[in-house]
Amino acid sequence: MILHPFKLHLPIASTIFPRYISSVIQLYPFIMADTGLVETLLRRVEKVDGGLDSQDVATSLGVDHQAIVGAVKSLQALGDVISAEQRSAKHWELTGEGCEIAEQGSHEARVISSIPEEGMPQSQLMKLAFGKVGFSKAMSNKWIRLDKGHEGGPRIFKTVESLEDLVRDKLLLVQKGQASQLEEKEKNELKKRKLLSEVTVKFYWITKGSCFSTTITKQETELTPEMIASGSWKEKKFKPYNFEAMGVAPDCGHLHPLMKVRTQFRQIFLEMGFTEMPTNNFIESSFWNFDSLFQPQQHPARDQHDTFFLSDPAQAHEFPQDYLERVRKVHSEGGFGSQGYKYDWKIEEAQKNILRTHTTAVSARMLYKLAQQENFTPVKYFSIDRVFRNETLDATHLAEFHQIEGVVADYGLTLGDLMGILHQFFNKLGITKLRFKPAYNPYTEPSMEVFSYHEGLKKWVEVGNSGMFRPEMLLPMGLPEGVTVIAWGLSLERPTMIKYGINNIRELVGHKVNLQMVYDSPVCRLDS
Ligand code: PHE
Repeated sequence: MILHPFKLHLPIASTIFPRYISSVIQLYPFIMADTGLVETLLRRVEKVDGGLDSQDVATSLGVDHQAIVGAVKSLQALGDVISAEQRSAKHWELTGEGCEIAEQGSHEARVISSIPEEGMPQSQLMKLAFGKVGFSKAMSNKWIRLDKGHEGGPRIFKTVESLEDLVRDKLLLVQKGQASQLEEKEKNELKKRKLLSEVTVKFYWITKGSCFSTTITKQETELTPEMIASGSWKEKKFKPYNFEAMGVAPDCGHLHPLMKVRTQFRQIFLEMGFTEMPTNNFIESSFWNFDSLFQPQQHPARDQHDTFFLSDPAQAHEFPQDYLERVRKVHSEGGFGSQGYKYDWKIEEAQKNILRTHTTAVSARMLYKLAQQENFTPVKYFSIDRVFRNETLDATHLAEFHQIEGVVADYGLTLGDLMGILHQFFNKLGITKLRFKPAYNPYTEPSMEVFSYHEGLKKWVEVGNSGMFRPEMLLPMGLPEGVTVIAWGLSLERPTMIKYGINNIRELVGHKVNLQMVYDSPVCRLDS
């Protein structure tokens, strides 16, 4: 292909690039996992029959579990050295209060050890941190008695000398990892007292893989010219790409002025109730770009000097056959009340693949699709996307630009409707003075160039092209008689250059774009 199709992306590369960089960085933690730890893990896996629990490995090595997970992941990336299955298990843990009791004893036990033989005023006990809960538990266990009539206020006496602190003993068992010695009922009771909680832990069950080895060779991440020249690449192992890496969203970025203006145009169409057409095919067959639009095969636009032809694949082969036949007929013999062009229409010419020269090719596809509906419904469509022309490059022309196109189909639309809608559309852009000049397009009749008065330049400038699609285009598609379609098109670059005061299109699009221009161009407001 002669063109660089992504030329326009250059200015916004700054917003794409950080994603690329960050996805590389994302891979890094795995590449850089502590090699010592990886080797230790491999030696442990080698020795064990069966498998290893990554949590146990972490505990016995005294490292964070995440570090083991990192080692597992970097080994997984090497192929089938180990197999690591993610499992989860529930286990019991002491809560904060549970830990305190395991250390200092239960509240009720601490009450007993605080009360001397001669007893203690109740008010004094209540002042202690464990006093309240401890008092009521010890009372219900009948470990203490309360003498309410005691002179000097209610007084508490012990009724037992020593006791077994069962709650503490149970908690200590859990702390030692021997929770299985307790009955389910006991554990649930401690859970109710908020001394124990049941937690789910995720871990890897690690076993030897089919390529298990304790020595690992680092995988190559890059194929170098030297490897190719020496043939050493044949022996090397390459790290597979991680297509899953998410990348980090860039903190900020700048939209290219063309994209800002595009947003505004899109907004205007949406406000007017238009639906966007799918324009995601830069390559189009001559059939949809020209023939379906009743553009004769000898038309100069279909020449190498005006259009980019594809060499591979040079031809398109899939067309709706009956429609293709009707197109052939209307060109060569006429029909639908038209004389046609009376020439020998050739399928070979229609099959030629090109870079679309206008988005009207997309409109043609959409109108054909509309005609295939069982019942016709009125539509309002728009598109804003790139088109390509083999132009001589100068200050205002490039070999590619964006077209903005609007299409309205309904019964009985007139030239007056077209003028009305153009007024409405351009009004929303802040352009109020419009003039129309008769023009010629192979696919529209009548056709009008649209001019607006430019207050700055103090003259009328062309802002668009428009017309009513010919019956020779619409009727072969199968649209009902009486349905008319009005349409107009303009470029995105021209209003953008006017809006941002750019005189040379190469300062707006292409490799010479100054990124500072992209940063400095403010948000676009077309109506002001
Ligand atoms: N396709 C025309 C162009 O390339 C624009 C246009 C669209 C004209 C729709 C009439 C109707 O300039």
